[in-house]
Amino acid sequence: MRRTIDWDDGAIVIVDQVALPGAYRTLRLGTVDELVDAIQRLAVRGAPALGAAGALGTALAARHHWPDLTKVRAQAERVARARPTAVNLSWGVSRALSALPESAEAVLAEAQAILDEDENVNRLASGHAAELVLERCPRRPLRLLTHCNAGRLATVAWGTALGVVWHLHTAGHVDYVLADETRPLLQGARLTAWELAEAGVPYRILPDSAAALAMARGMVDCVLVGADRIATNGDVANKIGTYGLAIAAARHRIPFVVVAPWSTVDTSLPDGSSIVLEERPADEVTHISGEPIAPEGAPVFNPAFDVTPAELITAVVTERGVLS
Ligand code: MRU
Repeated sequence: MRRTIDWDDGAIVIVDQVALPGAYRTLRLGTVDELVDAIQRLAVRGAPALGAAGALGTALAARHHWPDLTKVRAQAERVARARPTAVNLSWGVSRALSALPESAEAVLAEAQAILDEDENVNRLASGHAAELVLERCPRRPLRLLTHCNAGRLATVAWGTALGVVWHLHTAGHVDYVLADETRPLLQGARLTAWELAEAGVPYRILPDSAAALAMARGMVDCVLVGADRIATNGDVANKIGTYGLAIAAARHRIPFVVVAPWSTVDTSLPDGSSIVLEERPADEVTHISGEPIAPEGAPVFNPAFDVTPAELITAVVTERGVLS
């Protein structure tokens, strides 16, 4: 399977996630402007994929502007600021910039190292999480619930929370996956459902508001989600709706497991209170496929992420192991 994001002959190539599930197509991004636009439109999205985008964007800037290091840094900064919540984006930029004094080629080599590491890191983290799920959830086969898209489309390859599903499904342990549709941009209905169908994993899409009922009816053994930024105390920023899911899971004593690469941990933050939560345009809520579903000019609150307090989380699992 092709990578979600890659480098090809002087350009960044991404799987266009706005087109899915209707069409599977790729986009070539040859400038920082095009990359920033793709990040902001969510054509490339998901924290680990954004880490790769940050690094490759820096490589693009270095290719165009080296040896003018000030200019390269300014362009890289634009990439790092394209979206605020996933720490992986600025992490990818900083890591690629560390090679800047050497040469533009060195920046690209560092970016490519991030891409090469991504699949291994995700396989490891999700493997640790799969073991934890098997330990904590006695029922077989397992009924899993996930939110947003934390699959291969959100990473360079493999995925984080959905990576756990791939491990468990291969071992014959998955009954089904419930995929929250994830209003308003429907990453669950459009992307997670597409990945599950591709992999032949039985699934059902449910409105986000049905998740608590599914738990109350005993339809869920474990909740698996990814993360966009994890504070030192274990507070987790992830797609809007994650906090509500964690409250419902705690009420029903269902394990709530967060799976992410270590690059999602922001050790500069003692807790999640200062994480910047992106707010997105009103029309994402008031319109569906360009058609209005609310009165014209209706005021909107549209945060793209929320913060789940550590006390509601059973474990945060990275490639380094399980943090309970
Ligand atoms: O707005 P998005 O689609 O970029 O949000 C993505 C998420 O919230 C994912 O759950 C998170 O990035 C983890 S992806 C492995």
